Amino acid sequence: MLDGHGQTAVVTGAARGIGRSIAVALAGTGMTVVGVDMASMEDTQEAAEATGSSFHSRIMNVTDPAQVQDLSLWCTQTLGGASVLVNNAGITRDNLLIRMKQEEWDAVLSVNLKAAFLLTQAFARSMMKARFGRIVNIASIIGLIGNAGQANYAAAKAGLIALTKSAAKELAPRNVTVNAVAPGFIETAMTAALSQEIREKYLRSIPLGRFGTPEDIANVVLFLCSPNAAYVTGHVITVDGGVVM
Ligand SMILES: NC(=O)c1ccc[n+]([C@@H]2O[C@H](COP(=O)([O-])OP(=O)(O)OC[C@H]3O[C@@H](n4cnc5c(N)ncnc54)[C@H](O)[C@@H]3O)[C@@H](O)[C@H]2O)c1
Repeated sequence: MLDGHGQTAVVTGAARGIGRSIAVALAGTGMTVVGVDMASMEDTQEAAEATGSSFHSRIMNVTDPAQVQDLSLWCTQTLGGASVLVNNAGITRDNLLIRMKQEEWDAVLSVNLKAAFLLTQAFARSMMKARFGRIVNIASIIGLIGNAGQANYAAAKAGLIALTKSAAKELAPRNVTVNAVAPGFIETAMTAALSQEIREKYLRSIPLGRFGTPEDIANVVLFLCSPNAAYVTGHVITVDGGVVM
């Protein structure tokens, strides 16, 4: 079990969906949570504070290096740093490869991959100094198996998995673990836009016979941040009802 009292977590994309669920779950362990998003996090704040923990809302763009530096400095000065970083913010800009615009490619690579690099770099130093840290990157099974219409997203998530493994090797000597969670089809705003036909097609491919919930992902993130996962690093855990096995 994870007792988060005395620890601080930074969770990106915390306004809704999977990020909201992770932020509230970490707060439930007693952890102070810093939610990061471009959107308002009032709803997350309310749920996190209902657990009795502190929640700090930082409205910003994770792709902007200066804003990421400001966040890291603020965390150090105000909260004494962070021991947990969850890189969850992500976007999709789906299109067939031959039609994909450079802006669609760049936007997806920027939020899903570059931001995780910026945040890891900004927070790793203090974690290494403290000789303790837990970094969890929210990838996707699409980064493992690819998907028609998602070349940008698949490449970004595959890159995030490679970043996870390289960072895990660099930071392991200082007791900082870096792991990735690769969700399958999870019921959030990101997937709500899909047609009924596509949803039914996906459902048929899921051995456990249901779509995932944001809580299914948060539970695994909690495990990776807990002492039970102290010897787990550089790993990618698929949480997908058995699609990839
Ligand atoms: N929902 C799924 O089925 C699914 C499957 C696999 C992986 N994932 C991954 O899980 C993560 C969360 O997905 P979700 O379904 O909760 O998505 P979501 O769209 O519901 O939430 C994403 C959040 O990230 C925030 N965000 C986007 N760009 C940002 C930026 N530049 N700076 C700060 N915040 C930004 C958004 O405002 C939003 O609140 C993403 O990385 C996504 O790729 C989701």
